[in-house]
Amino acid sequence: MTSDVRLGVLASGKGSNLRNLVQRNYNVVAVATNRPSCGAAQFARQFGLALGGFSQRRFDSREARDLAMRDWLRERGVELVVNAGYDRILSPCFTAAFPGRIVNVHPSLLPAFAGGMDAVERALASGVRTTGCTVHLVTDDVDAGPILLQAAVPVLSDDTVDTLRARIHAEEHRILPEAIEILAQKSPSLRP
Ligand code: GRF
Repeated sequence: MTSDVRLGVLASGKGSNLRNLVQRNYNVVAVATNRPSCGAAQFARQFGLALGGFSQRRFDSREARDLAMRDWLRERGVELVVNAGYDRILSPCFTAAFPGRIVNVHPSLLPAFAGGMDAVERALASGVRTTGCTVHLVTDDVDAGPILLQAAVPVLSDDTVDTLRARIHAEEHRILPEAIEILAQKSPSLRP
């Protein structure tokens, strides 16, 4: 059984992790994006999920954007924030509002290939034989918060970025829900 913790998903990309959570019946009560035309936003619209658009150009500063997003998520009673392909760094005013209650999924075995949106490309170019993905708590140090779960993925000799990324994604779709369960069980009430 999946926990009914109220999830707020932040996304900027294709949205496969968002789709996976919804298909597994997670309680996604809000989807926030900085890219209203991204795949994740389109999926949210199709499925009638509450969608908030927080494009940087609507705000004078990163802090102003993150405060608006924080308030919007709070209004929807979000208990756990899930960064699923969100491509902006969160300001301290946002992370402080959800202490220990923001998770991120990153497509490498952190601390290897931290930072940036090209971790899969860098892993392939580096010649490592194993890479993978990590779910970790978000702190103010980018990609450096406490690790919750990792999954290893072998790099095959004929891998391309696309084939490797697809296998990493499959593991993300397994460990992100698992990490949510771990957090939900550790603190049955994630409410602030
Ligand atoms: C994932 O690979 C995740 O690790 C990274 O961004 C990607 C998002 O994929 N942070 P999707 O938009 O959920 O398909």
